[in-house]
Amino acid sequence: MTSPSQTSVFHPEHHAHLIPYMAAIYASGINIDRTTAIGPFLPPLSLERLLIWWKDRIAEHQARTRIIILLLPPSENANQKPKGEDLRGIAMVELDQSQAGDFRGVIDLLIVGQKFRRQGGGRSLIQACEYESARKGRSLLTAKTETDSASELAFKSCGYVEVGKIPNFSRTSVDAATKRGVTLFYKEILLQTQQSRTTAGA
Ligand SMILES: CC(C)(COP(=O)(O)OP(=O)(O)OC[C@H]1O[C@@H](n2cnc3c(N)ncnc32)[C@H](O)[C@@H]1OP(=O)(O)O)[C@@H](O)C(=O)NCCC(=O)NCCS
Repeated sequence: MTSPSQTSVFHPEHHAHLIPYMAAIYASGINIDRTTAIGPFLPPLSLERLLIWWKDRIAEHQARTRIIILLLPPSENANQKPKGEDLRGIAMVELDQSQAGDFRGVIDLLIVGQKFRRQGGGRSLIQACEYESARKGRSLLTAKTETDSASELAFKSCGYVEVGKIPNFSRTSVDAATKRGVTLFYKEILLQTQQSRTTAGA
């Protein structure tokens, strides 16, 4: 499905006012979806800790060690700032800083607001992660999703190769004993990006 939304790389000048909305959509993933695969938190969430965590992620984006991508409604005017309520989803890629791994990235957040799911937004965010990562010379992306979740299906449908599953990987808010498993994925992206550019230029 072609998404009715568009993706945009986070830009402080245009998007700084969206930070509380980014924190809110992320919090909904933890509080409502109860997903355990997006960051370090379990409910109940501390707003203060959440905002500190987001400030750290934005600092990484500005230091070019992370890419933050927003899902927004289509805009005809590139200079018009989106409203907070316009934010539909977020994805992030952590760019490996090691000498041995400077061609790798990890998609460590993918979330689409409940109202906007099953409209291609998740796929657009994953594709934008790939495009922006390839532009930064990254050719290998990895991801970790909760097993048997919508995100597992989304990564599979975007061509990610499943490496395996780790059972009982994350604690949940259910009780101290209940844990959930994760599924690990990878995708080699640069070759495809080069191929599609060649095809587009043919
Ligand atoms: C995972 C998530 C981002 C998917 O977003 P989305 O916008 O609904 O995804 P898309 O509409 O782009 O779907 C892409 C593909 O994923 C698969 N998919 C996504 N959600 C699905 C679902 N609920 N059931 C079955 N397949 C699903 C489908 O193959 C779909 O392709 P199709 O619509 O052509 O069949 C969204 O469900 C979400 O935010 N979940 C909660 C947070 C979360 O778990 N994040 C992941 C942490 S790693």
